[in-house]
Amino acid sequence: MHQEKIEAIKSAISAAEAGNEDELEAYRMKFISKKSVVGELFAEMRNIPNEQKKEYGQLVNEVKQMADEKFQELIDQVNQAKKQTKSFDQDLTLPATNVAAGGIHPLTSTRQRIIEIFERIGFNLSEGPEIEDDWHNFTALNFPENHPAREMQDTFFLEKNPDVALRTHTSSVQVRVMENQKPPIRTLSPGRVYRNEAISARAHCIFHQVEGLYVDENVGFADLKNTLYHFAKEMFGRETKVRFRPSFFPFTEPSAEIDISCLICGGKGCNVCKGSGWVEIGGSGMVDPNVLENCGIDSKKYTGFAFGMGIERIAMLKFQIKDLRLFTENDVRFLRQFRPML
Ligand code: DAH
Repeated sequence: MHQEKIEAIKSAISAAEAGNEDELEAYRMKFISKKSVVGELFAEMRNIPNEQKKEYGQLVNEVKQMADEKFQELIDQVNQAKKQTKSFDQDLTLPATNVAAGGIHPLTSTRQRIIEIFERIGFNLSEGPEIEDDWHNFTALNFPENHPAREMQDTFFLEKNPDVALRTHTSSVQVRVMENQKPPIRTLSPGRVYRNEAISARAHCIFHQVEGLYVDENVGFADLKNTLYHFAKEMFGRETKVRFRPSFFPFTEPSAEIDISCLICGGKGCNVCKGSGWVEIGGSGMVDPNVLENCGIDSKKYTGFAFGMGIERIAMLKFQIKDLRLFTENDVRFLRQFRPML
């Protein structure tokens, strides 16, 4: 009879919980105080027959000890919780401390944005080596034997082997893709290129380009124009106009330079567009049949368009940066302007 009651009290003690002072007090009233269930067990002592008193007393003392230990445990828990909430006890109206955060380099974010725009219209990504051979950089691209672009002032050749050079444009990746894949091909090749030029606000010996190539049956100049219209509007805004200016590249026929309406003056004429209202962003054209054949693609069945644009150029227009050298100087005063706003 007593046994059962005592067991019930024991399991109630071990299941007891307390998350705050009030609950602690409730526990104390229930298991510790004179009027508690444990107190009542002691009071019961007088009704116990003498020969059972010893055994009963032992049991009740055990329960008492258990209740006390549990009480201490709960007190510790509540104190601990109090301490923790104390550390959150801050003045939330104070201004936040500044967290130093890095930003994305403007060339990286520009490249990412270009990739994103073309990926959405089905272009994949491809890349090639920065150290190229004459075939991929020039010959396969239909550069005649004595074309001035091959000369020393433009190209960094390897001293010991004139067949190896730092690529002067990403058009070399076109050749590698066409040699290895069958049409339909829709690919974008961003990458670093090198030219043996004096460094100035407008030119650098190391810069970045992005090459685009689309080869399939019945690809025409209208496809090229529409693709680049789409790109310009996505990149620079809906109001942007695009103009194609007849030009020459050995690897395209016909060829056109791509201009967009000046973002600074909106086409009225300013010092960025040198009063013309237009700025050039790259070159383009229909892939020359010789290039297709050089890469093992049947030029009677397939046609294609290609374009190449300077990433620095696009970033300069987008962020109104006047000097190309800023991209590589790593001046924190320049870079800080591209940190995200916190
Ligand atoms: N490779 C040219 C350059 O570096 C840019 C270019 C022009 C790429 C026309 C093309 C193109 O794919 O069709 O100036």
